[in-house]
Amino acid sequence: MFITFEGGEGSGKSTVIKEIAKRIADSGREVVLTREPGGTPIGEEIRNVILEKKNTAMDPRTEALLYAASRRQHLVEKIIPALKEGKVVISDRFLDSSLAYQGMARGLGMAEVYQLNLFATEGFEPDLTIYLSLDPEAGIERIEANPNREVNRLDLEKISFHELVHKGFEELTKENPHRIVKVDASKSVDQVIEACWEAVEKRLRWR
Ligand code: TYD
Repeated sequence: MFITFEGGEGSGKSTVIKEIAKRIADSGREVVLTREPGGTPIGEEIRNVILEKKNTAMDPRTEALLYAASRRQHLVEKIIPALKEGKVVISDRFLDSSLAYQGMARGLGMAEVYQLNLFATEGFEPDLTIYLSLDPEAGIERIEANPNREVNRLDLEKISFHELVHKGFEELTKENPHRIVKVDASKSVDQVIEACWEAVEKRLRWR
C-alpha cells in the first residue's frame, strides 16, 4: 500500500506522518517513510538544486522537470521495490504537490504538469492520499512561530503563491474523491492524527 501526504506550508504534515508510520508499524506491518523531492541519493541531490535559496533564476518548467526527475528515481529505486516486498510506503509529498505548486501556483497548468509527470510515473498512483488542508495565512503563521525552521526557496514565495497552492489542492481533492481524503489541519494535532488514522485504517482493513 502506497500512502502519500500532501498540504501547504505549516500544515503539520511531518508530525502527523511520524505518528501514522508508528501506528502502522505497531499493527505489525513494515513501513518505509520517505519524502519528495528526495528519497534517494540522486533525488536528494536534485532536491538541493531545487530548494537552494540562491537559485532564483530557475525557470518554472525547469523546476517542474527537476521535481519529476526526482520522482522518477524515487519510484524505481525505492517506492516500487518496497511495495513489491509487501511494505507500506508513506511519502511526504508526491505527484499532487507538482500539480498544485507547479501546475496551479506557478501557472504551468495542472493538466500540463500531469502530462509531464506521466513520463516519470508511467501512470503509477498512490492508493491513498491524505491532504492536510489549512488556510495559507494560518500555515505561514505557524511556520514563522517555529524558531528551528529551515527556509527554502519556495517558502520565500508571496502569500498569493500559497493561496494558489491551496486552491490547487482543493481542486485535486474534488476531482479525485476515490483517492484523496481531505483532513482539516486547523484542528489540534491529536484530532488531525485521529482523522488521518481513521482513513488509513479503513484502507488497511480492505487489504
Ligand atoms: P520541504 O522542506 O520538504 O517542505 P514541506 O515541509 O512543506 O513539505 O520542501 C519541499 C518544497 O517543495 C515545498 O515547498 C513544496 C515543494 N514541492 C513542489 O513545489 N513540487 C513538488 O512536486 C514537490 C514534491 C514539492
